[in-house]
Amino acid sequence: MVFTLGPGYICPMISRDIKSASDLLRSGRVIGMPTETVYGLAADALNPQGVAEVYRVKKRPSFNPLILHVASLAHAQSHALVFYPQAEALAKVFWPGPLTLVLPKKAHIPDQITAGKSTFAVRVPNHPVALALLEAYPNPIVAPSANLFGTLSPTSAAHVVRNLGDQVPLVLDGGDCSLGIESTIVGFTPEGIPEVFRLGSITFDQLKEVCPDILFRPGTHKEVLAPGMYPKHYAPKTPLLVVDLWDEVHQLSENYGRVAIVAQEPMPVFESIPADVFYWSDDLSLEAVAHHFYRVLDKLDEQNFDLIVTTWFAEHGLGSALNDKLKRASYT
Ligand code: TXA
Ligand code: MG
Repeated sequence: MVFTLGPGYICPMISRDIKSASDLLRSGRVIGMPTETVYGLAADALNPQGVAEVYRVKKRPSFNPLILHVASLAHAQSHALVFYPQAEALAKVFWPGPLTLVLPKKAHIPDQITAGKSTFAVRVPNHPVALALLEAYPNPIVAPSANLFGTLSPTSAAHVVRNLGDQVPLVLDGGDCSLGIESTIVGFTPEGIPEVFRLGSITFDQLKEVCPDILFRPGTHKEVLAPGMYPKHYAPKTPLLVVDLWDEVHQLSENYGRVAIVAQEPMPVFESIPADVFYWSDDLSLEAVAHHFYRVLDKLDEQNFDLIVTTWFAEHGLGSALNDKLKRASYT
């Protein structure tokens, strides 16, 4: 099950073996789990040893709660003290899929995964391998993104191995994540009115079609509502600068050494800038940008540039979620 490559180095196995994955979870170990958004670092939500291992391996602060992954709406309902009508409406439209709901929890959901909060976060992922595991495994599974706290989220099994290497005995292989950025998180006021806590793969407009009264109050009290929403997060190791206009890049390359530009499409101005030019995707859609987002930043990190420069996306739809990631990745 585990290859040993020499003293002290364990190479995680990349496989599709649901039985081995279940056995590891049962014995309080963590595994890499694919989802349609990003890969998760999975543990049995009801096994204190496994959950502690998630926090230890990720170096995640214990006050940052985890998302419970379950196989169906009925499973999610069995863990919630209250499942508001608007929560059910959203779940029926978007599950399985990249929507996380934050709801009052029942007592059997351990404080360890909710950081002592009376609410818990839950979603049904839309990925055949994740669903096969969730259907085979008797307990809910917690899975934060499988990166070290604060760094880029992985969107392939190989990236999980590079991130967490010898800390994880097995990574279930589910190919490249189809969506590429995290789920959208929605909580509820005590009256049951939905409120966006974290932008992600589902856009505000999509949510609004189902719940016209949904709230989104960025910058007001989001940090308190979703304690993992740190100003600096998802960051590459290379400094990242986000500009409004490409013309601002002109004076940069001299001061910053080797500069990489990441753009959506070619611009005439690139010809006169001494920088290497890369594209988020060869497709202009924001879905394609999201799909490649972490992978492109990860690849650029490997090339040891002194600076990565990009521009903000149009503040609309998936562009808002990508801008939120860029803001946190470039925060100094
Ligand atoms: O797409 C995703 O959601 C991925 C895949 C693996 O499912 N998971 C993910 O997990 O992004 P993570 O741990 O990186 O982010 C979980 C977020 C944190 O910001 C945390 O604060 C928030 O969920 N959260 C969890 N429980 C919460 C609660 N009770 N109240 C408010 N926010 C909560
Ligand atoms: Mg994360």
